[in-house]
This record gives sequence, C-alpha cells and structure tokens, in this order.
Amino acid sequence: MADTVDLDVTDEGVATITIDRPDRLNALNVPTLHGIEAALEDAEDADARVLVLTGAGDDAFVAGADISYMVDMDTAEAQAYAELGHGVANAIESFPAPVIAAINGYAFGGGMELALACDLRVASERAVLGQTEIDLGIVPGWGGTQRLPRLVGDETARRLVYFGDRMDATDAHEAGLVGEVVAHDELDDHVAALAGDLAAQPATALRAAKEAINQSHETGLAAGLDFEARTWAGLFGSHDQREGMQAFLDDRDPDFE
Ligand code: COA
Repeated sequence: MADTVDLDVTDEGVATITIDRPDRLNALNVPTLHGIEAALEDAEDADARVLVLTGAGDDAFVAGADISYMVDMDTAEAQAYAELGHGVANAIESFPAPVIAAINGYAFGGGMELALACDLRVASERAVLGQTEIDLGIVPGWGGTQRLPRLVGDETARRLVYFGDRMDATDAHEAGLVGEVVAHDELDDHVAALAGDLAAQPATALRAAKEAINQSHETGLAAGLDFEARTWAGLFGSHDQREGMQAFLDDRDPDFE
C-alpha cells in the first residue's frame, strides 16, 4: 500500500482508511489514489462491517486532486486521471459495507467527490467544502457533476459548481451535503460511536440495504422495485432474519452474526 494511505481494522470490524499526506493537505496524487484502491480491497478482505474514510492531520480531509500533477496534463492524460478518480469513487460507493466520511477539514474538488461517494458524511465544525474546480478553469471530473445533484438537488449543485463556493460546515449541513456537524475535537469519538453502532447492525441486511439504495441511482422505479423485492426475499432464511424475528417474538435482544 502507498505510504500516503493507512488502514486500520478493529476487532469489531470497523476499518479506517486515513489519507496521510498532510504536508499537501492530503491532496490526491496517483500513488495515493492507488493506495486508496488497495486499502479498500484489504478492508473488504478483512470483512469490514463498516468503513471510515478520513484525512490525516488537523487541517484537511482532502484538499482535492493534486494540482501540481494536473497543471501540464494533456487531454489524454486528463481522461486517464478522470478514470482513475472515478474508479476510486466507484470503489468507495460500491464497497459492500457502509462508508462514513469523517470530514475533518478542507474537502475541495476531488476530496469532496470522494466524500460524495460515501454513504454518510459527518463534518467537523471546522470543515470547509466545495467543488472549487471552476477556480482552476475546469469542472468536477471525479463524479461531482453526477453525485452532487443527486444529493443536494439540481439548482444547489449548479450554484456550487458554477461559482465554486467554499461552504462552511453549517451551510453544508443546510444544503444537505453533510448529515451532521460536530465539534472538531469530538469528530473522532462521534464517528467511532456511529461506526460502532453500524458495526453492531446485522451485517448482511445492512449490505443488502446499501446495495438496494445504490441501485435507486441506477434504475427507473419499476426495475428498482424488482431489485428491492429480490434483495428483500434473498434475506429470508438467513441467520439474522430468523434470529431477528424470533427474538422479537421471544421479547429478547437479537444475537446477530
Ligand atoms: N494540490 C496540490 N497541492 C496542494 C493542494 C492541491 N489540491 N492543496 C494544497 N496544496 C499544497 C499547497 O500548495 C501547499 O504546498 P507548499 O507548502 O509546498 O506551498 C500546501 O499544500 C499547504 O497549502 P496552503 O495553500 O499553503 O495552505 P493554506 O492553509 O494557506 O490554504 C487551502 C489551504 C486548502 C485553502 C488551499 O491550499 C487551497 O485552496 N488548495 C486548493 C484547493 C482546490 O482548488 N482543490 C481542488 C483541486 S481539483
């Protein structure tokens, strides 16, 4: 794995990927992107029940794609870089277990796009977020034009992309971009508690829920409902389904796998 990406997995199945390039505010260069891909594969191999994505240091989640790498790229190189970024964001989005972005500071450009690919976003009150590419004479290229409108609605997304606004955490919360905002020095504990709660959920059902909700971004309603019915039915006969329902009938706490 790249030395700019760390992976930790607890006994409870909480994996944490930390993008660790603080002297560049965790900006994403090619080795770091490959490092995230490798860390995602390792976390999946470790059967993580929940994954946290965060940035090292006190200032940045990820301050974007590495501008010093991009400055002289031609169209073919830019296409390859877009595909690499898409691959990483897609791998986060399709990671089997839920992924929480712990946004501990700046999340600009490609950093915000990685956060958009996560299931849930928790921001420090010191976080600042933005699709700031317009200031560099480009547009979001790692999913921002597609995932942002799905999350915050079309007009809000257009305003953010057209003007490159840098939003504080409160405004990001009001826009629906982050699910919650917490005090900066409480972020780690808060995210650990949230991750612990998710890790205690029945893992197979949680994975099924993620897959079905992800599917809603891919299909029309009829195909999505078909997918949901198959997902739902596929859970019957599982240990957790039998146990969850029997525990309710027995008036006791379930003992999930
Ligand atoms: N790519 C490459 N290097 C970056 C970077 C990026 N996206 N973001 C920050 N850095 C580097 C800076 O060049 C600087 O390097 P240096 O110490 O060699 O000069 C270092 O990280 C620290 O950043 P600096 O700008 O000095 O910190 P700051 O606290 O004054 O400002 C930001 C922080 C995040 C506001 C500012 O760095 C910034 O606007 N970054 C670019 C954000 C952006 O446009 N991202 C979208 C890219 S698609």
